[in-house]
Amino acid sequence: MLLMAGLGILIIFFAGRWIWFDVFRVHILQQKHSLYQRSAPYIFWTPPDTSTLPHTAEGDLIRYGRLLIVHTARYLGPKGKIAHISNGMNCQNCHLAAGTLPFANNFSLVASTYPKYRARNDRVETVAFRVNACLKRSLNGEALDTHSREMKAFVAYLSWIGGQLHARISAGSQTQKVWGSGTEKLKYLKRAADTGAGRLVFMTYCQNCHGPRGEGLWVDSTGEYQYPPLWGKHSYNTGAGMYRISQFAAFVKNNMPYGTSYLHPQLTDDQAWDVAAFVNSQPRQAYRDLKYDWPKIADKPVDYPFGPYADSFQQQQHKYGPFEEIEKSRGSISVKQK
Ligand code: HEC
Ligand code: HEC
Repeated sequence: MLLMAGLGILIIFFAGRWIWFDVFRVHILQQKHSLYQRSAPYIFWTPPDTSTLPHTAEGDLIRYGRLLIVHTARYLGPKGKIAHISNGMNCQNCHLAAGTLPFANNFSLVASTYPKYRARNDRVETVAFRVNACLKRSLNGEALDTHSREMKAFVAYLSWIGGQLHARISAGSQTQKVWGSGTEKLKYLKRAADTGAGRLVFMTYCQNCHGPRGEGLWVDSTGEYQYPPLWGKHSYNTGAGMYRISQFAAFVKNNMPYGTSYLHPQLTDDQAWDVAAFVNSQPRQAYRDLKYDWPKIADKPVDYPFGPYADSFQQQQHKYGPFEEIEKSRGSISVKQK
């Protein structure tokens, strides 16, 4: 009798909690949506379906480009069948679901915004230049020849995935924002990000997949990582976007632990910033051409961790924050971040 009652209470408790959580999630979701819709006329992007790709030479090239993004290591990794020019990671490790998910570094805007001026190299970058930038930095590798079939395939996929959106944006009379593009910029912390607290976040939420030394889990039989590395020899290098803690925290907040999405993030902003600080305080490969980045030093993002700087804040603060005072000190100086 007592047992039955106990069981009943337990069931009611868990079912109730479950329903409550669900209602709560939907509520947050609605709030997020209405917030976005109120503040700007947002375009909601739905990526085209790969099954609509024709069986033509062009269709094949786009399909190949998608494969290169999903399984980069099998083609271009240390044991790749085309070339050995990258560290074993896949583009998809950071551009989730072949670059199609909201707030997960998606490729929605590539077709409509490139060629594009970027201050990091103080030049107008083509899509091919941008792909090579991620190859050399995020995949700590070598650039592809722009005339290679592989580069043509990357560019074909990226132009196709954002092609319809590009047409929609060019047809509109005003520039609209695309909901979910890139990552969700997090608010700065009032304090410096804390590597010690970040280590605890890492041990609790990340190390079971990414490994106690952030080394990831390589699977020989598939020729790629099941869990990609977060630091060490095979991870992104110091020239990568992820090496800035704002970029790392923004990606992780809405996407990690794996399976999480922006609909129900599991980390608080504080935890995301702290784990970003911890991971980026660990050793990794140096980017060979770092000295050519940000030729105009006043354009360096507040969290760019390498001097010299146009302001008087220390390198330590540029790496871990607090960033707000750095940003304020710049006043009206435009920050061409991207
Ligand atoms: C370690 C994570 C990581 C990996 C792996 C990675 N990227 Fe990226 N990529 C980023 C981040 C972060 C950004 C955006 C931030 C920035 O501008 O630096 C980005 C930006 C891009 C952009 C520009 C997007 C835009 O809207 O401007 C393209 C194109 C791109 N990556 C292609 C690739 C390709 C192709 C690969 C594989 C060869 C790849 N990336 C691998 C992290 C990664
Ligand atoms: C359940 C396993 C799992 C957990 C737990 C997990 N990750 Fe991941 N993580 C992945 C997988 C799988 C990918 C690659 C996704 C893909 O290729 O689709 C990934 C990719 C990443 C990437 C981009 C690629 C790279 O290696 O740089 C970062 C950064 C990252 N995770 C950070 C974290 C952090 C920080 C935590 C803890 C808060 C965490 N992850 C927890 C499985 C996990």
